[in-house]
Amino acid sequence: PRPIFLTRPGESLGSVLNLVGGDKNLSATGEIYSKLLADFVNERLKTEHTASVWMSTLQRTIATVQHLTQFPKVQWRALDDISAGICDGMTYDEIKSKMPEEYKARSLDKLRYRYPRGESYLDVIQRLEPVIIELERQHSPVIIVAHQAVLRSLYGYFADKPLEQIPYIEIPMHTVIEVQMGVAGVEEKRYKLL
Ligand code: G3H
Repeated sequence: PRPIFLTRPGESLGSVLNLVGGDKNLSATGEIYSKLLADFVNERLKTEHTASVWMSTLQRTIATVQHLTQFPKVQWRALDDISAGICDGMTYDEIKSKMPEEYKARSLDKLRYRYPRGESYLDVIQRLEPVIIELERQHSPVIIVAHQAVLRSLYGYFADKPLEQIPYIEIPMHTVIEVQMGVAGVEEKRYKLL
C-alpha cells in the first residue's frame, strides 16, 4: 500500500502573529522548512517512480511546495483551511475580547461550532470526502500540504479517531506525518524536520 505524507505549511507571517486563517506568505523560518521538506521527500521517495503533491490554494502552502519540483502538483480548494468567516484574519485574543459569545460557543463545542459566514469542523470533514475518495484510489505516494484543521480531519479519518476528538488532535508544525494502511490498521511515523 502507498504511504500518505501529511504536513502543514511552514511557519507563515500569520502564524507568527497567531492569526486565525488569513492568506499570508511564509516567514524566513517557513522558507527554511520548504527546503527541508524537499530534501526529505527527495531522500524518502528516491526509489519511487511516481508520487504526487496535493495542496491547498493558499499562498503559504504553494510556497511550502516550491522546491518539490520532481512530482506533479494538484491544488484542491477542499484542502483550504477552515473558513473563519467574519473572524478571518483576527487573532484568537481579538475574537475573545470583541466576540466573547462566539469564543465561548466555540470552546464549548469546537466540532460543531460554525464561524459566522464560515465553517465548522463538521463542514470541513464533509468537504474532504472527495479528497478521501481520490486518495483511496491512488497507487503511488501522496504528499499533502494543508492546514491544521484539514490535517486533523484527514488524520482523524485514517487513524479512526472519534469525531469529538478531531478538533484537538496535535498536528505539529515543521513535521511530516507518514501514514500507511497496514493489515493491522494504520501505521504512522513522524519526522520532525525543524
Ligand atoms: O491553523 C489553524 C487551524 O487550521 C485552526 O485551528 O481550529 O484550533 O482554531 P483551530
